[in-house]
Amino acid sequence: MCGIVGYTGKELALTPVLEGLRKLEYRGYDSAGIALATTTGHKLWIQKRAGKLGNLEEILGSTIPESHSGIGHTRWATHGGPTDLNAHPHLDNDGKLAVIHNGIIENYLELRLVLEKAGHTFKSETDSESVAHLLSDARKQRKGDLAAAMRDVCRQLRGSFTLLAIHSDDPGRIVGARRNSPLVVGIGDGENFLASDVSAFIAHTKRALELGQDEVADVTGESIVITDLTGKILPHNEFEISWDASAAERGGFEHFMLKEIFEQPKAIADTLLGRIQGLDEEVTKGINLAGIEKVVIVACGTAFHAGLVGKYAIEKWANIAVDVELASEYRYRDPSVDSNTLLIAISQSGETMDTLMAMRYAKERGARVFAVCNTNGSTIPRESDAVLYTRAGPEVAVASTKAFETQLVAMYLIGLHLGRIRGTMSQELIAEIEHELSELPAKVEQILETVEPLRELTRRFNSATSMLFLGRNVGFPTALEGALKLKELAYMHAEGFAGGELKHGPIALIEVGTPVVAIMPAANSLLAEKMASNIQEVKARGAVVIAIADIDLPAADYLVRIPKTHEFLQPVLSVVPLQIIAYEMAIVRGNDVDQPRNLAKSVTVE
Ligand code: AGP
Repeated sequence: MCGIVGYTGKELALTPVLEGLRKLEYRGYDSAGIALATTTGHKLWIQKRAGKLGNLEEILGSTIPESHSGIGHTRWATHGGPTDLNAHPHLDNDGKLAVIHNGIIENYLELRLVLEKAGHTFKSETDSESVAHLLSDARKQRKGDLAAAMRDVCRQLRGSFTLLAIHSDDPGRIVGARRNSPLVVGIGDGENFLASDVSAFIAHTKRALELGQDEVADVTGESIVITDLTGKILPHNEFEISWDASAAERGGFEHFMLKEIFEQPKAIADTLLGRIQGLDEEVTKGINLAGIEKVVIVACGTAFHAGLVGKYAIEKWANIAVDVELASEYRYRDPSVDSNTLLIAISQSGETMDTLMAMRYAKERGARVFAVCNTNGSTIPRESDAVLYTRAGPEVAVASTKAFETQLVAMYLIGLHLGRIRGTMSQELIAEIEHELSELPAKVEQILETVEPLRELTRRFNSATSMLFLGRNVGFPTALEGALKLKELAYMHAEGFAGGELKHGPIALIEVGTPVVAIMPAANSLLAEKMASNIQEVKARGAVVIAIADIDLPAADYLVRIPKTHEFLQPVLSVVPLQIIAYEMAIVRGNDVDQPRNLAKSVTVE
C-alpha cells in the first residue's frame, strides 16, 4: 500500500524524505515521487517515476534546490496504472501546491467533473489528483490558510485517505489529514515528521503522536497543531516508540523474510511472556468475556489461517461455537451478530481495511470486539474493546511468517483464557497446554537447524508447475498457509486441501511427479492413520510425497521431521518447513522475496 513521508525542519529535506520512503518500501509499491518546497523558487520542485525508488533517485540529478520541507510517496496503484504521470505527488494547475494520498477517494469522479467544468486541467487518471485541485481552490478561498483548506476539502471527500499537502508560498508548512488510513507525526527537535507509520522516522525520533479519525495536522519545524474538521484544537496523543531502529534492518540475512523466519522463536517467546498463566487485566480490562454465546473470528490471508487454527482450539477448550470468516465477505452477507458475540479481529498491520470494516460492522451491532494485532496504536486495536498485542516486532517482508506464528500463539492464549474462565478445561489439560506452549520456542529453534537441507530438498522441485498441500484437522489450515506462501512467493500454482476431501475431486490433479506436501497429524492423533491412507492414495497415482511429521514415515518419499507437541499446537512447528520451501522456491525462480509482485504488506483498500 502507499507509503507517505513528510519532513519540515532545520535539515535539508531530501535526505529524510528519501530515507523515510526506503523504510516504507516494505508496504509494497509500483512508483515513487517527491515534492520539495524550495527556499528560493515560487514553484515546487517535483520528481516522480514509475518503478522502484532507484528509478526516482536516478533522475534526481545533482542540481537539487535548497529545501527544508518536502513530501514523498510510494504508490501502490488502484485508480490508473503505475505510470510516471499517475505517480504522486499531484500538483494544482499553478504548480504551487502538491498532494500525496494513500487510500481511495470514492467520489472522485463526480468531484473531477465539477472541477473540470470550473476550468481545472487534470494530468493523471488517479482519484488523488482531485484533492490537489480542490485544495488549491479552497486555499485561495481561505486566504492562504492550508490547514483550513484541508478541513474544508476533507468534508467533501468520501472514502479513505491519508493526505499530505505542501505549498510553495508557505514552504515550512506541511498539512496532513486522515480518515480510515493511518498518519503519525514524529516529534523532533526543531524538526517534525509525518508518515504512514513510525518506521519512516524512528532513526530520527522516538517521540510520536497519532492522528485520530478525521483529524488534521498543521506542522512546521517548530509547531504541531491538531484539529478536528471543525477547526477545534485537540490535545496531542503522544507516545514513545518502543521499536529499535535496527530491529527493522536485515541484520546480515539475505532477505527480511529469512531474518524474520529465524526470529520466530523469540517472537513466540515474547508473545507468551507473562501470559501463559492467564491474560492479565491490561489485555482484558476493556471487555467482558463472561456470558458470550459465540465467537466470530474475522481476518484476511495468513491471519485468516491463524483464525482457522484458533477455531479448533477455542471450540474444544472453551466449549463454544466459533465461526471464522474472511473479513472481505463478512459484512456483505448481513450476518447474525449481537452483544453476546465475541468478535476477534486478527491483523498484523492493524490497518487491513477489510478486517477493519468487518470489525466495525460487528461493533455497530453490539459485538464485543477483541483485536489480535502486531502494530501498536494502529486503527484496529484503537477501535477495539480490548487488544492482545502479538510481540513479533516489525515484520518487513510482505510474506507473513513470524506474525503468523504469534497469531497462532495468541489464539491458543485466548482459547486457554476462555477455557479457564468458563471452567471447561480440566486442570490436567491446562497444565499440559501451558507446558507445551512454553516449549514451542525451543522446538521451532530445532526445526530451524534443518533449514539448509530443506532448501536443498526444495531445489529438487524447481521445475514443478504445481504443488499440493494436504492436511487434516489443524493441519488443514496449515496446508492452506503453505499453499498461500508458495503462491505469493514462487508465483506457482499451489493448493491446500483437507485430506478427506481428496477423493471428492482434487485427486484428479495428481499426475506422475506432482509434488504433494503432506502435513501429518500428531502421531498420537486419531487422524494419523487416515492421513497415512491419503498418502497412499496420492502415491498410487504417481505423486512425490514430502511429509512433515513427528515420527518416521517410510511411505513418504522425503521426510521432514518436526518435534512432537500437543496436536492443536502443531501448526506452529509444521508451518516452518512450508515457509522455507516457499522462500527457497522464490529464490530459485529469481523472484523478489521480500516484495513479491502485485502484493502490498498493508492492504488499506477494500
Ligand atoms: C501473507 O503472507 C500476506 N502478506 C497476507 O495474506 C496478510 O496476512 C493479509 O493481507 C492480512 O494482513 P494483516 O495481518 O496485516 O491484516
